[in-house]
Amino acid sequence: MDQFLTLENIHMEYKYRKTSIVSIEDISFSINRNEFVSIIGPSGCGKSTIVKMILGLISPTSGKVLMDGDDLRKGEGRVSVVFQSAALFPWLDVLQNVEIVLEPLIRDKEERIRVAMKYIKMVGIDGFENAYPRELSGGMKQRVAIARALSTSPDLLVLDEPFVGLDVFAAQAMREELLDLWDDQNLPPHTVLMVTHNVDEAVQMSDRIIILSKRPSHIIQAKQITLPRPRNTRSDEFYRTVDDVLKIMSG
Ligand SMILES: Nc1ncnc2c1ncn2[C@@H]1O[C@H](COP(=O)(O)OP(=O)(O)OP(=O)(O)O)[C@@H](O)[C@H]1O
Ligand SMILES: [Mg+2]
Repeated sequence: MDQFLTLENIHMEYKYRKTSIVSIEDISFSINRNEFVSIIGPSGCGKSTIVKMILGLISPTSGKVLMDGDDLRKGEGRVSVVFQSAALFPWLDVLQNVEIVLEPLIRDKEERIRVAMKYIKMVGIDGFENAYPRELSGGMKQRVAIARALSTSPDLLVLDEPFVGLDVFAAQAMREELLDLWDDQNLPPHTVLMVTHNVDEAVQMSDRIIILSKRPSHIIQAKQITLPRPRNTRSDEFYRTVDDVLKIMSG
């Protein structure tokens, strides 16, 4: 297997003035190149903590995060993230919001704009490149965030509950579009790690679902999802798989 990202015996303890809490007891898993993996687990079990570790924003109390078998720091710039709230710069328009992350990578301004526009088109918001975030709906903002995340051609796309703020139809459309992009070998993202609370969403999208226990967390099970793609979310098999995951979650 072509392991791309590995978390090895991650333990995380947050220290407060007088006490400390163990958020993560012991978690180890790997993600293979071209794999779509979801993490699911109860609120407060450390999912966003894991995301921050993979982004290199925090370090575990003990354990290792490895990218391509190497220390994470060497993988800098190879991971992009999309959070639940799109986190756009309100004083920049759509094009500038995407272009800004390309500044360190592409020196030529015209080339930067060309690449930014390619991804803006890809997520279906062309025509709005000169709009400001306040002029956009939640779904459109999330599309800008996805365009921005993909524009740097990351090796890994991390999604932390990306569809939570959207209505059911917008969320479903974006899931399918994201899966189409992931399926296209010539376009990023190639490898995806998604945090979600939504079991249906995890079963629809993932090759594998990592199911975490409540805090202090460990992995209850890593479940391979073998349903053929594109997945029929109304089939008996689909419902059965969702049920299986729910049963594992409830212990
Ligand atoms: N910066 C921090 N300082 C102290 N404690 C923190 C910090 N960040 C998270 N925690 C604690 O660690 C635990 C895990 O938090 P985390 O945000 O990773 O959970 P989560 O699984 O993402 O939850 P949710 O599903 O609600 O988003 C929580 O109990 C939280 O209070
Ligand atoms: Mg979280």
